[in-house]
Amino acid sequence: MLNMPIEHIALLTSGGDAPGMNAAIRAVVRTAHFHGIKTTGILDGYDGLVKKNFIDLGPRDVKNIVQRGGTILRSARSEAFMKPEGRAQAATNLRDAGIDALICIGGGGTQTGAHQLAQEQDVRVIGIASTIDNDLGGSDRTIGFDTACNTALEAMDRLRDTASSYGRIFFVEVMGRDTGFIAMHTGIAAGAEYVMVPERKENVEELVRVLENRSKEKGSCIVVVAEGDQEGGAFKLAEQVKKRCSQFDIRVSVLGHLQRGGNPTMADRLLAARLGSAAVEGLKDNKHNCVVGIVKGEITFTPHADAITQKKSIEPDLFRLVQMLAV
Ligand code: F6P
Repeated sequence: MLNMPIEHIALLTSGGDAPGMNAAIRAVVRTAHFHGIKTTGILDGYDGLVKKNFIDLGPRDVKNIVQRGGTILRSARSEAFMKPEGRAQAATNLRDAGIDALICIGGGGTQTGAHQLAQEQDVRVIGIASTIDNDLGGSDRTIGFDTACNTALEAMDRLRDTASSYGRIFFVEVMGRDTGFIAMHTGIAAGAEYVMVPERKENVEELVRVLENRSKEKGSCIVVVAEGDQEGGAFKLAEQVKKRCSQFDIRVSVLGHLQRGGNPTMADRLLAARLGSAAVEGLKDNKHNCVVGIVKGEITFTPHADAITQKKSIEPDLFRLVQMLAV
């Protein structure tokens, strides 16, 4: 089974949707078509795989989606797929449909499920690294991260306008689950006076000192807070600061799911095109049970077991940069 030629591929999107997923779907389908390989779409992620919610997906079915956020294959959580019997049913559905391999587009949770499926069943699976959090190993950047950062950055620039008009301090909460990639990258790009990320031990006293100095000189301040921050997010942190400095005029803005939508940037569309086509050609070269990504500019195939356990860290120089530049 595992060495048979690849003539029919199925693909699904799972977990948090990310801008660029549609560009990846398009690249998979069009590259497969180029190589004479049939493609089937699976609706609603792993739930659709277990329930055999399959659709034909040919080169014309993916027209005019490269620029669209979200995913035309939808996504869903799946209790059934979390159980071995659900994964066995999934493998049976793939076999019964004559599908030779599966491409799973998503983040850590998606790739963990793909790895379990590949280990328990003789199914050839390749993962495409896609999550706005950028917290999946095996790729320097994951599809959706660049677009989410640009969405958050635009919001921060808008908040800076009103903060400056009032001399206010804005706490802006961004997504990232339990990592601070979005917070750190957008904080530096927005010229934030402070960035709170789960990767660094919190210090509210230090934050208060910085705000006391900056707000006198600069009038307005932006504090970017990762949602997974130890203090429990922007509202809780703002409360702590307000308790210590009642004179601060503070507002809070939680950007939430805005960061998940929007037309993907060029960077995400290009990343999606490269990973989507590499996934198909990787399967043709008998690569599977791995995550396709780009590391130092090169296409890589990282074993699932490594990609889902690798602890990706924020570039160390960024912690110092945000302090130096926000004077
Ligand atoms: O993993 C992507 C993500 O947007 C996280 O940043 C966020 O914490 C989570 O998904 C939100 O999940 P849901 O869409 O189920 O509320």
